Amino acid sequence: MKAKRSSTCLGFATVVVKVIILTGLVKEINGSDFRISEATIDEIQRAFAERKLTSTQLVDFYLERISSLNPILRSVLEVNPDARSHAKEADRERTDPVLAPSLGPLHGIPVLLKDSINTKDKLNTSAGSFALLGSKVPRDAHVVGKLRRAGTVILGKASLTEWYGSRSLIMPSNWCARGGYAQNPYVDSGTPCGSSFGSAISVAANMVSVSLGTETDGSIICPADQNSVVGIKPTVGLTSRAGVIPLSPRQDSIGPICRTVSDAVHVLDVIAGYDPRDEATHSASKYIPEGGYRQFLKKEGLKGKRLGVVRNPFFNSYNGSLAIFIFEHHLNTMRARGATVVDDLEIPNISIIQNASQSGEMTAIAAELKLSINKYLKQLISSPVKSLADIIQFNIDHPDLEKTKEIGQDLFIGSEMTKGIGEEEKGAIKKMEELSAEGFEKIMRDNELDGLVTLGSDAATMLAIGGYPGMTVPGGYDQSGMPFGILFGGLRGSEPKLIEMAFDFEQSTKARKPPPPHYM
Ligand SMILES: *[C@@H]1O[C@H](CO)[C@@H](O)[C@H](O)[C@H]1NC(C)=O
Ligand SMILES: *[C@@H]1O[C@H](CO)[C@@H](O)[C@H](O)[C@H]1NC(C)=O
Ligand SMILES: *[C@@H]1O[C@H](CO)[C@@H](O)[C@H](O)[C@H]1NC(C)=O
Ligand SMILES: *[C@@H]1O[C@H](CO)[C@@H](O)[C@H](O)[C@H]1NC(C)=O
Repeated sequence: MKAKRSSTCLGFATVVVKVIILTGLVKEINGSDFRISEATIDEIQRAFAERKLTSTQLVDFYLERISSLNPILRSVLEVNPDARSHAKEADRERTDPVLAPSLGPLHGIPVLLKDSINTKDKLNTSAGSFALLGSKVPRDAHVVGKLRRAGTVILGKASLTEWYGSRSLIMPSNWCARGGYAQNPYVDSGTPCGSSFGSAISVAANMVSVSLGTETDGSIICPADQNSVVGIKPTVGLTSRAGVIPLSPRQDSIGPICRTVSDAVHVLDVIAGYDPRDEATHSASKYIPEGGYRQFLKKEGLKGKRLGVVRNPFFNSYNGSLAIFIFEHHLNTMRARGATVVDDLEIPNISIIQNASQSGEMTAIAAELKLSINKYLKQLISSPVKSLADIIQFNIDHPDLEKTKEIGQDLFIGSEMTKGIGEEEKGAIKKMEELSAEGFEKIMRDNELDGLVTLGSDAATMLAIGGYPGMTVPGGYDQSGMPFGILFGGLRGSEPKLIEMAFDFEQSTKARKPPPPHYM
């Protein structure tokens, strides 16, 4: 159920015959100088306005890349058969003199959705499992409705760790039954991490403009980190979870995975907000600033900020890595940009926080999983499975499809045995609240910090159990070429500060590079 940097999946990695494919690095459209690869939303909108590009051309480019790259990277489960016609409609709207002035920054932009986010169209929503294939959802997820109204083109569904990795303790983080084993586009032996790997790989390899992922514990931050893209895991409740396959309503969050901070912020601006179908959005919507998040894309965003650094244990998995040296350089850049770095802080009880069986996270999520999945399945119009018990039976009945012997389903079986939120679960939830209050919140307040900055994604669990936001930005590549990110974390509702810091950091380091040529 947790995204892990040092994954269990290396031994399972698919052996792929490497074919040098594609030509797509520089695609010239209409003889103009516009390049789709690495183009940001703002650049695409400029090209639309200057008639150098249409949404239809953009969709065609991505569909071609998906058909060439996906047999190896395996990051996309389905493409939308209606994507082209939706793009044509967007192109038509852009030439309509009445409509054109009111179109927002996401109009005509292709979006890939993690395969756990409901769409009421020809696409399936299955959490990567055959058990949900063919199920009929009652409506679009709230965030999808917002994306459609903003004029985006839903390009397809992205692969993911099946059921977010909640099926078994041993499941590889880069696998789901429907998609098979996915591949990191930078380093063949490196893991793409999970669970939103399909979203992260696809934007990293320029198979789409932007994507959505979901996170319960590390599932946006870790794959964004390992595939050299930007991920925002919003404060829990800032974005509605209604119509998204749940794991833990206490921790689940929906957020953008994109190539740049500014792209991710454009997407966040569209998807954040109150939704009567998700109670948590009621209190969290008070965090949304008037005028949205775009105003925090400021050049001087690091100036005057106080940033905490916790090395032990968050940096331990990078001992001896080039990444540590690059991080020191980045810290100096942040200081030079006017930030104050408060170094070598310690989080009280951090070893308990990091261990899901000691913090209470394992206990709470086991019960929350059964309750929330059963509730989700009940509101489907039709589905091959109606309960967690049915999913377990489906896996038993389809051992070849679901690789039931190799992958197992111990966590599902454990969850099925829970009986709601009883004394033990309440105690576990209270413990996590205390750990957060006496841990992360305490060092933030004691040191008057605007945020914590760390290397990689090992701080994701600490942010997850407290519902705190995190934002990762590409930080560079280690000696093997493996990407790593720089993670900014903060208190609930601190997205404006995180965006200011992340944007200034990104603009002054420009660390992201596209994947090596055979994936470009
Ligand atoms: C959805 O799944 C069904 C199988 O149940 C398949 O026939 C269909 O093509 C899938 N939809 C898309 C858009 O791939
Ligand atoms: C990394 O280094 C730290 C500090 O020197 C040490 O405490 C820790 O055990 C090391 N971790 C690993 C995984 O080697
Ligand atoms: C986490 O805690 C459990 C239970 O106390 C223990 O058995 C396990 O070894 C711990 N895991 C790690 C990585 O420390
Ligand atoms: C955190 O650590 C302190 C000091 O070791 C301890 O008294 C407290 O019980 C711990 N908190 C939790 C929630 O385990």
